[in-house]
Amino acid sequence: MTVSSSRDPAILVIHGPNLNLLGTREPQIYGSTTLAEVNQELHALAAEHGAQIEAIQSNHEGVLVDRIQAASGKVDYIIINPAAFTHTSVAIRDALAAVNIPFVEVHLSNIHQRETFRHHSYFSDRAVGVICGLGPEGYRAALRFVLQKMSLWT
Ligand code: DQA
Repeated sequence: MTVSSSRDPAILVIHGPNLNLLGTREPQIYGSTTLAEVNQELHALAAEHGAQIEAIQSNHEGVLVDRIQAASGKVDYIIINPAAFTHTSVAIRDALAAVNIPFVEVHLSNIHQRETFRHHSYFSDRAVGVICGLGPEGYRAALRFVLQKMSLWT
């Protein structure tokens, strides 16, 4: 993990495809909280503990690869819900390996209770940890963990 002393600790939150529709998308699976509400809570929690946080969402694999590459040397921890790319994307997996930034994988739903094709993740074996099935609480739990790792949970 690369932590520069010349800047504030930085966390990048990445939301993959279709997560922009949170709140209205299959609410029986993903709940009624919107992505804006998820991000607002994460920003507030990070600010309370003196960490900088940036949250992005994209439906495009290459955009996510570019953003991860650009994080090299600037971001200390990544929290990522790769959404459908969880089950398909060698490219995003490789980008995370290339920048060597530790990351936590989050899923709102319990992917292991769902269709078989959702049981495999291209990310889990490289993640520091994986949280699934806790809804939006999973993001907050991931952020609390990351803040602890950065010695900012005081
Ligand atoms: C998801 C689970 C994925 O299987 C699905 O494609 C998503 C969201 C989740 O948060 O539960 O888009 O990552």
